[in-house]
Amino acid sequence: MDAKDMEYLTIALPKGKLFKLSSNLLAKIGYEAEGLTEKSRKLVITNEEKKIRFIITKTADVPTYVEYGAADIGVIGKDVLMESGKDVYELLDLGFGRCHLMMAVPKSERREKLTDYTHTRVATKFPHIAEMFFTRQGMQMEYIKLNGSIELGPIVGLSESIVDIVETGTTLKENNLEEIAYIMDATARLIANRVSFKMKFDRISAMVKDLRAILESEAETCES
Ligand code: PRP
Repeated sequence: MDAKDMEYLTIALPKGKLFKLSSNLLAKIGYEAEGLTEKSRKLVITNEEKKIRFIITKTADVPTYVEYGAADIGVIGKDVLMESGKDVYELLDLGFGRCHLMMAVPKSERREKLTDYTHTRVATKFPHIAEMFFTRQGMQMEYIKLNGSIELGPIVGLSESIVDIVETGTTLKENNLEEIAYIMDATARLIANRVSFKMKFDRISAMVKDLRAILESEAETCES
């Protein structure tokens, strides 16, 4: 890590659903930069005064930037983090972006038991998590990796089922799919590169402390 890298804290933010929630939360502890919006075509946005660099990346790429140290810190959903298998520190559960991973099938073609789907095709963005789940059930499956609109898989006969995230349940409902197995919960996490965490320990731990304080005060406000 050269002197310039040491001077700045680089934070990777994912495009998409988590962007606004992440940047709003970081702004509350003073981590902000002019022009930091999801639509920005500028890939690196710097706050010179506070020595913070933001990079905006494809959601699935955040763990990669952090693992290689191209970003010191990142915000990413637990689902994507787990699927990536990247070796990073998970510092804090940020609580937002709550969803769960599950297996769903067309309502009209529901089979009696989960194991009745053994050796069928499952469409998913999360083949590793899906495989871990099905292996635990003693089931061998054929995994078809898709990058979006997963629900389309069983509708057009690409697969018998899907493994995907559910937030509100609207997409399942609108496509006549039914959840038949729960896999795991997921929320957004703050992650750090292992070397950065040691080299920039004071700065990163102060950031975590401030974020934790904000999250706790918001949780109290919700309860009262
Ligand atoms: C995700 C997920 C589901 C949907 C679930 O897709 O893959 O399709 O959200 O949300 P709901 O339960 O609130 O309907 P996303 O919007 O990220 O787009 P994608 O199809 O490109 O993955």
